[in-house]
This record gives sequence, structure tokens and C-alpha cells, in this order.
Amino acid sequence: MAFTWVLAMMVWMGCEGEIGAPVEVIDPHSAAMKEEATVKHLELDLAVDFEQEQLAGTAILELDRSEDATQLLLDSKGLEIESVMISPNGRTTSPTEFSLTDEDPILGSSLQVALESNTRFVHIQYKTTPGAKALQFIPGNLNPSGKPFLLTQSQAIHARTWVPIQDSPGIRFTYEAKITVPQGLMAIMSAENDTVLHEDGVYQFTMDQPIPAYLLALAVGELEFQALGNRTGVFADPSVIDDAAYEFAEVEQMMEIAEGLYGAYRWGRYDIVVLPPSFPFGGMENPRLTFATPTILAGDRSLVSLIAHELAHSWSGNLVTNATWNDFWLNEGFTVYFEYRIMEALKGRDYSEMLASISLSDLQKEVAELGVGSPDTRLAVDLTGRDPDDGMNAIAYEKGYYFLRLLEETVGRPAFDAFLNEYFSTFAFQTMNTEQFVAYLETHLLDPQDLDPEDIKLEEWVHGAGIPDNLPKAKSKRFDAIEEAISAWIAGQDLYQYPTAEWTSHEWLRFIYLLPDAAKPEQMAELDRIFGFSDRTNCEVLCKWFVKSVTTHYEGAYPAMERFLLSVGRRKFLTPIYTELMQTSEGKELAYQIYEKARPTYHPIAVETLDETLDWPSAVQLSEAN
Ligand code: BES
Ligand code: ZN
Repeated sequence: MAFTWVLAMMVWMGCEGEIGAPVEVIDPHSAAMKEEATVKHLELDLAVDFEQEQLAGTAILELDRSEDATQLLLDSKGLEIESVMISPNGRTTSPTEFSLTDEDPILGSSLQVALESNTRFVHIQYKTTPGAKALQFIPGNLNPSGKPFLLTQSQAIHARTWVPIQDSPGIRFTYEAKITVPQGLMAIMSAENDTVLHEDGVYQFTMDQPIPAYLLALAVGELEFQALGNRTGVFADPSVIDDAAYEFAEVEQMMEIAEGLYGAYRWGRYDIVVLPPSFPFGGMENPRLTFATPTILAGDRSLVSLIAHELAHSWSGNLVTNATWNDFWLNEGFTVYFEYRIMEALKGRDYSEMLASISLSDLQKEVAELGVGSPDTRLAVDLTGRDPDDGMNAIAYEKGYYFLRLLEETVGRPAFDAFLNEYFSTFAFQTMNTEQFVAYLETHLLDPQDLDPEDIKLEEWVHGAGIPDNLPKAKSKRFDAIEEAISAWIAGQDLYQYPTAEWTSHEWLRFIYLLPDAAKPEQMAELDRIFGFSDRTNCEVLCKWFVKSVTTHYEGAYPAMERFLLSVGRRKFLTPIYTELMQTSEGKELAYQIYEKARPTYHPIAVETLDETLDWPSAVQLSEAN
């Protein structure tokens, strides 16, 4: 039976419809056979064991099935399946046959469960195993607070490493959960949460809005809650809760802005949890409960656009969801556009244009790195056979953003906002793929405006590589002033005449970005002395500064860089610093030294990327040989 689903999938993929016509969407990263049976409700009962670094318990799956379905296909990776029972009503159960396919290194094993004609529920007893990609168990001694912490990261296809489920963004289900944790710790999920500690360590959750598996999330640790507004709040370690509440004070206002732009917030509450520093991402849009890195607690609210981004996903992504990871730009490109609109309303156009200019630099850099003609520089990508996390690059985000900005600039804001409003309400709690979106765009925005797709180079934007020449231009006077200052500095003038005291962290980011790679270590040292870059609290600035310090061989920054690499686990910061270190042999040596110490503290998702960046197994062999 192994991989029958792969065959079936290939057959399906071969019969794609015409562009614009409804297309049967097949997800190349899931074993699920939608037309047979899908999960519509999940009931989890799990115990969290920090000693064994394991979750164990049951998952009861309620099905939506066709009359003649004979099997249910689930995704799983590294799960130890102890028993599988079927039931017509969720109460009386009977054993059934089940099998696991051989493990595919990316997709894991598909769990095939035989169904009877009256089966409505499948009960699975299981355990997770060490190495589960979604899970990070942080022992007390590695967590700044001293207490153990567990966090999950299900996007893109890691939910299957902690729950046997149809792990496809195109399949949605509601859920309830009972989570048992060691006494003294609190559990919270992407669901309705209690905000107080339960002495018995037992927590119950319900999630009434249907979500795809990648939005299943759990965090366990010592957490305190503070309200931000009526329907917003923050959970964090007691030592950072006040800082977090200060940093996120604008969240309620962001929600009002977001609702004013694109319609009611459909998820009830919006809370944020600040995680330990090893969380591999900046933010994750788990519904009702954004997961956030503590590296955004800069102390001056300068990095809150990340919260605007995760909040925006409550519409783009969580409400209207990319059908497969090939359509990831529909999640992220829309969200970046929405994020900048929120930030524009909150802080002004000058501010959001700085964000847009940074976007452009990131996009240009990504295209240069991937190669202008690379198929991976297309919005609609083909990630079949690859880990969908590979698609998490600037193309989906920034090229996606600029495409939407082009649409806005072409039809004008009122028409574009009306279009997006209708899009979010029409497709709420549904999925969307690139072809469906293009068809909807043509009929609901371009045709009514008498625009021809060619007028905006639609095909080139969506299916072409590189950056189309009608890319909109971001205009930032504040960044123009930084360019002027840098040119003066390169020409040998000092910077006293410039109002550097007024520069925001975004301006400093631009400044560092524009510093020539040929700057001398002495020049870098002088800048560091005057502006204290190595001691900044803004992690975006620190990261860019450390990369530039490595490029320019300014070793004065290395002690601070080492502290940073040993205390922060956010992949976006780690990858560029280690990559830059790997360019020279001395750098490599330092990278290995630091990585050896830091690796046990990083999340498995970051470890996978960095092992590759550092060519780690062979580096280990090398040091063992010596
Ligand atoms: N959904 C993403 C994070 C993600 C994407 C995780 C793909 C795994 C696979 C989240 O919304 C995101 O984009 N986070 C960014 C921050 C954002 C402000 C661009 C991050 O973590 O850096
Ligand atoms: Zn995002």
C-alpha cells in the first residue's frame, strides 16, 4: 500500500483545469485524500512529560466522509501509534486495521486507517518521539526564567510530528483539548484560553472556528497574563510581562485600524504570548494567540510592526488560507501589504515607506541570491518534493507585497480596499490558490475597471521569474537623508552635522545596510564607539551590525556577537550571521566554536537550517579527526 497516495496525487496533478476554471487542489505535502474522508473536529487529550520530552495521549478525529470511503489517510512523522479504534458515535469503539508507510524524510509516514461504512470517529492512542520538529522542550537551566518551557511550531508541515492529522492547509477542523502539565506551569493554545494557573495542571481548550493543522499550537511554561484592552492581552514570563505590556500597548488600536480596513475580527480575543528567546521565528499567527519572539521587546515599541503582521494574518492566512504551500504568497504577500497599511495608519506614511523600502532591498537581495531566472523567484512556486519551509523567503513576502501595491496604485485605494474587503468576506474560512485568486482578481477588480491583465503584466508578476519592470516605487525621504549622510561619511566628513539623535531604528538599519563592505575595521570601531551599535537592544539593528562587522573584519564586535548568538534562537538573525562567518577560514572556526555551544539551545527547525549552513556533520567529523 505504500505511497498509493503519491500515485493518486500524480494522476490528479496531471489533470489540471484551464486557467481561471475551478481546479481540484491537490496538496503535494499531505497524504490526505479529501474526497474520501476529512477530519472536521479534533479532540486531543495529551499529557506533557518534560523528563521524557514527550507528549502522550489520544486524538479523537471526527470525520466528514463519503458513503463509500474505505480508508482515512492521515499525516504523521515520528509518531508512535499505539492503537487505532473506530466508532460510529465517539463512544463505542472497535479495533480496526491500520498501517504506516515507510518514512519519507520530508513528509513522514502516512497513517492509513481502515473505515467501516458507519465509521464517524477514529480514536488514536499515540506518543511523540524525540526529534519531533514541532516541539521544543526547553529545560529549566536553559530558559532564562529557570522554569521548563514547551513550545510548538506547526507551520508549515510540522503539526504531523505532534498530532496524527491531515496536515494540509486546505483541510480545516474545529478542536477541543485537554492538556495535562506539571504543577506550577500553565498551558495555552491557539484556542479559548484561561488566564490563570490551574493548581492541578489540567487545562481545557475549545476552538470553535475551523482552522488548518498548521495553526494548531501549544505553549507550556511559567506564564503571567496582563490585559492590554477589552479583547487583547499578553502572556509572558513574569520577568518580562511589564516590558511586554509596555511594548504592545498599541495592539488594541491596531485591531481597530485593521477592522476599519478589512472587516470584523472573526476570532474573538487576540492575545500574544512572548516566548523564550529560542523561538525560531519572529512571530507566528496562531489564531487568538500570536506567538512572539522576545527579541521584539526593544523597549521603544520600534518593532511592533511584527505584531501588526501577525494580527493581519487573522484575515490573510487564517481566514482566507493558502490552499497549498505553493500558494504561500497569498498568505504572506497579502499580510505584508496589510501590515504596512496598519503601520501607515498608526505611525504615518513616512514610517510605512521606510518599511516598504526595506522590503525592496530584501527582495532585490533575495532575487540576486536565488538568481534572476530562478523558478523560485516566482510568486506561484512548485515546492513538490521539497520542504515547504524552503519557500519561506522574501519572494512570497516582498514580491507579494509589491504586487498588491501595484494593484492598489493602478486602481486607487478605495477600489482596492473594497475589493479586499469583499475577498476576505467571500472566502472567509475557506482556502484559495493562485489560479482561483487570479480569476477572482480579473472578474472582480480588473474587468470592472476596464483593465486588461496585460496592463499590469499580471502573468509576469504571478508566473514569471525576477522583478517585473513596473514594480512600484517606495519613496522615503527619511531614507534619502540617510543615503546623503552615508555618502558624506564615505567622502570623509564626520556625522555630527546630521540629526542622528533623532534617527529611529529603521534609519539606523538603513545606515548599516548602506555602509560599504570595504569599510575599514578602524572605521567600524569608530562608528561603534560613537553610536554604540554593539550594545543596542534592538535585535534587527544588532543583527545587521554583526553581519557588517564580519564582512568588514571588525573583530571588536565579536564578543557581543557571540553573546547574541548564544542567547537568541531566531533563525532570521542566526542564518545571516553564521553565513557571513562561513565566508573565511577564521570566521568558520569561530562559527563552529559558537555553534557547538549554542546548538543544544536552538529549536530543531533552526538547527536543521544551520546544520546545513555550517555543513555541521562534516564539521564535527573534522574536529573529531583532529
Ligand atoms: N507565518 C509566518 C512564520 C512562518 C512561515 C513559519 C513559514 C513557518 C513557515 C509569520 O507570520 C512570519 O512571517 N513571521 C516573520 C515576521 C514577519 C514580520 C515577517 C518572522 O518570523 O520573521
Ligand atoms: Zn507572516
